[in-house]
Amino acid sequence: MKKLFLLLIGCIISYPFFAQVSLPVYLDDSQSIEDRIEDALSRMTLEEKVKMVHAQSKFSSAGVPRLGIPDNWMSDGPHGIRSEVLWDEWNNAGWTNDSCMAFPALTALAASWNPEIAALYGKSIGEEARYRNKNVLLGPGVNIYRTPLNGRNFEYMGEDPFLASAMVVPYIRGVQENGVAACVKHFALNNQETDRHTVNVTVDDRTLYEIYLPAFKAAVHEGEAWAIMGAYNKYKGQWCCQNQYLLNDILRDEWNFDGVVVSDWGGVNNTLHAIYHGLDMEFGTWTDGLTKNKSHAYNYYYLANPFLELLRSGEVKVEELDKKVRNILRLVFRTTMNRNRPWGSFATTEHGEAARRIAEEGIVLLKNENQVLPIDLKKAKKIGVIGENAIKMMTIGGGSSSLKVKYEISPLDGIRNRIGSEAEVLYERGYIGQFEAYQDGIKSPQNLSDSRSEEELFTDAIQLAKEVDYVIFVGGLNKHGGQDCEGADRKSLELPYAQNELISALAKENKNLVVVLISGNAVSMPWIKEVPSLVEAWYCGSEAGNALARVLVGDVNPSGKLPFTFPVKLSDVGAHAVGDYPGTDKEQTYREGIFVGYRWNDKNNIKSLFPFGHGLSYTKFSYGKAIVSNQTMTEDETIIVKIPIKNTGDRPGKEIVQLYVGDVKSSLPRPEKELKAFEKVSLNPGEEKVVEFTIGVNNLQFYDDFRNEWVAEPGKFQVYLAASCEDIKSTVEFELR
Ligand code: BGC
Repeated sequence: MKKLFLLLIGCIISYPFFAQVSLPVYLDDSQSIEDRIEDALSRMTLEEKVKMVHAQSKFSSAGVPRLGIPDNWMSDGPHGIRSEVLWDEWNNAGWTNDSCMAFPALTALAASWNPEIAALYGKSIGEEARYRNKNVLLGPGVNIYRTPLNGRNFEYMGEDPFLASAMVVPYIRGVQENGVAACVKHFALNNQETDRHTVNVTVDDRTLYEIYLPAFKAAVHEGEAWAIMGAYNKYKGQWCCQNQYLLNDILRDEWNFDGVVVSDWGGVNNTLHAIYHGLDMEFGTWTDGLTKNKSHAYNYYYLANPFLELLRSGEVKVEELDKKVRNILRLVFRTTMNRNRPWGSFATTEHGEAARRIAEEGIVLLKNENQVLPIDLKKAKKIGVIGENAIKMMTIGGGSSSLKVKYEISPLDGIRNRIGSEAEVLYERGYIGQFEAYQDGIKSPQNLSDSRSEEELFTDAIQLAKEVDYVIFVGGLNKHGGQDCEGADRKSLELPYAQNELISALAKENKNLVVVLISGNAVSMPWIKEVPSLVEAWYCGSEAGNALARVLVGDVNPSGKLPFTFPVKLSDVGAHAVGDYPGTDKEQTYREGIFVGYRWNDKNNIKSLFPFGHGLSYTKFSYGKAIVSNQTMTEDETIIVKIPIKNTGDRPGKEIVQLYVGDVKSSLPRPEKELKAFEKVSLNPGEEKVVEFTIGVNNLQFYDDFRNEWVAEPGKFQVYLAASCEDIKSTVEFELR
């Protein structure tokens, strides 16, 4: 008995030693990930490997239970963690513990021009994903804003590749700190929703490299993204989810991407191309799976049984499968099998705080005459809030980014929360837009039915405007099809639902009119001269109303700036003037080339309605004269540009100082100027700071598509220090030798 007892003790003491020694390499996290991958791969059967490369449900793919390798679980993205859907249907699964925190739309994030805020965003949404046991977040999106009609612009980061790159990197890093992969989308050239599954984009290499790829490249090189999602459209005649040029030549060979390439949902169309052209995981083919009346629909995916048969017959080498599985295992070891990853947290007060801070930094004050804003609560005793967007939930709808939220503070609620005890806040709807009780998988808790006619709504709103000290009109677009929504583009630049007429009429009735636009896109403003103050408040998620109210009353001094141009009219946009939007016979040529957004305006002397980089503050900033450290530099050197900036107003504020560079003379046509640096500086009243920027040769280059390389030509360069791309404060010149 004693012997048996000693033997037992001996076994217990020596177990960890033997257990450790005998731990398979793939389970041993002291080993390198590459060794673990090879070990795991060597233990897997052909069938197990094939199961990994295609979906097994709407949002998951199989792991290898026999080896303890977990499934991969994805979630949209990019503004919050989507609620659970049924295994094989888009319908909500009806969970009661999956209501998330909604963060502001990526346009709002981009408008903050603050990489620290992007890091906070990434960290917070990553924690939500981790808590919900998702190891891939389907976002962020960095497709360039080419036309204001693109229904998905609200999910992206604006028109400028430098700004989008600067903002996407900290977002990705923040997400991935949680052991959750950011899946950057949609690679590439997915700049419209019209014909998104069929349109073939023709773009010259220079434009591709200078405008449409940099944010993806930054995501891979600087953000070290672990996943990327292909786009629905075609490029060079091949669908982007199975595209030799984009996925093999550029992403893998040029950029050395070692993460996983995920298809967009239903973006795969051909087995051989999916095998050979760089894709790793197929999702969403037959997204209506069960209704196609096939049992085990996922087995019929292009990378399922058809792939397996080709492998079994030897027509395709197992090495092709192994390449994909290696990338997927790398994802697994970085995420689900990383024992050190944190646990995450979900819909917490901290995340609410983060959402509000992001929103407050992103809201843009576009116009403020007669200092209507901030609202003076000593004078404003009766405030009329008018417009449907003051009450409508905006976290629901928009397509795959639709969210089931823990809460959403509407602009009206936010205003009432903040000033309801100091002033009387009255509401009129003014107009009625679309409303669907069930949209993009989410049932709205709102009932927005209204028995009044359009005329009655209009008259009631005007009547209210007559009676109050201030009118806050909250309108804009919404998340319904044909507006800011996936699947279709907008039909025009105009505000819908006769809002133009209403705004003009309100301006006549009340000189203290604040127009607040809720949108992810530019709109035309025929009434702009009639309206004293205008705010772009984007889609700001759960804390939208609180953030807006704090900006309107001046608790927060607005500091966002536009991440894209607001054109006066559609024909002022390159894609519409010459660019062939939305294409003919499913062919779309980006004829405006590199001249996108402000680059097009500069080239053609077009003045915008509101320029890229524009945004006002409740205080004033005065810029001094810029100086440059050297008059000349070589390719290996850098130069420093400094500019003093002072807060000359009476409240603390933040200003975004922008640096643009222009090549004075070049062998190829170049934009007059391009954003190459920026900094958001915080200044107290009377405070002055010197902002310093470093310019290196990479800020001077263009992509030479004859030589296929980045080139900086010797000669003079002009540096513009600016408050927006149309508000240049100081310039300096230097020469590259
Ligand atoms: C969208 C993707 C999204 C996916 C999954 C697709 O329709 O284009 O952005 O991640 O659906 O919901």
